[in-house]
Amino acid sequence: MSAYAEDTLEVTTRSASQMRDLGMRVAKALRPGDVLLLQGELGSGKTTFVQGMARGLGVKGRVTSPTFTLLREYRGRLSLVHLDAYRLEGPLDLYEIGVEEYLEGDAVLAVEWGDRVKGFFRPPYLEVRMEYGEGEKERRVLFVPLGGSWGERVTGLREAWGGGSQTVRPWG
Ligand SMILES: Nc1ncnc2c1ncn2[C@@H]1O[C@H](COP(=O)(O)OP(=O)(O)OP(=O)(O)O)[C@@H](O)[C@H]1O
Ligand SMILES: [Mg+2]
Repeated sequence: MSAYAEDTLEVTTRSASQMRDLGMRVAKALRPGDVLLLQGELGSGKTTFVQGMARGLGVKGRVTSPTFTLLREYRGRLSLVHLDAYRLEGPLDLYEIGVEEYLEGDAVLAVEWGDRVKGFFRPPYLEVRMEYGEGEKERRVLFVPLGGSWGERVTGLREAWGGGSQTVRPWG
């Protein structure tokens, strides 16, 4: 059976604020130790999505891109650890940064360019794949649940999001 056998969810957002809303929805279902690996090219909306997650977790203050700092930690209902793997060589760099310690704590980890360091993580995690759609402001977001309770949580998100801007397809 493929690792992608569980149902995926595809959502189309048409503005940055819609992308933040989506991040907020996801935040409602977050639990300590959760890992989200975000992938998608420059400007596809990874940081914008994490800003919504932060808001949904009750983080006060601004969430900025950790491209140069590599990692930022924010306090909310749960701690949010925001990591940008853009400048990393590969998964081994994450050991040096000490990411394991965060995973053992009560934090939620959101990793931009997560595909570059995927070898570091073992399921369960949620993959969030972003791509440009039509026009300047459309972005497609594909949620790929990998193990644990992510399948159920993505199903919950599908029901909560609703609307016509959503298609579901198996990822093959
Ligand atoms: N539907 C949308 N979703 C997200 N961002 C959007 C959308 N429409 C327009 N934008 C704009 O696109 C940009 C997305 O930037 P963002 O920093 O979130 O991307 P990123 O994937 O984190 O990029 P990088 O790879 O440089 O880290 C922002 O300027 C945002 O305002
Ligand atoms: Mg970014």
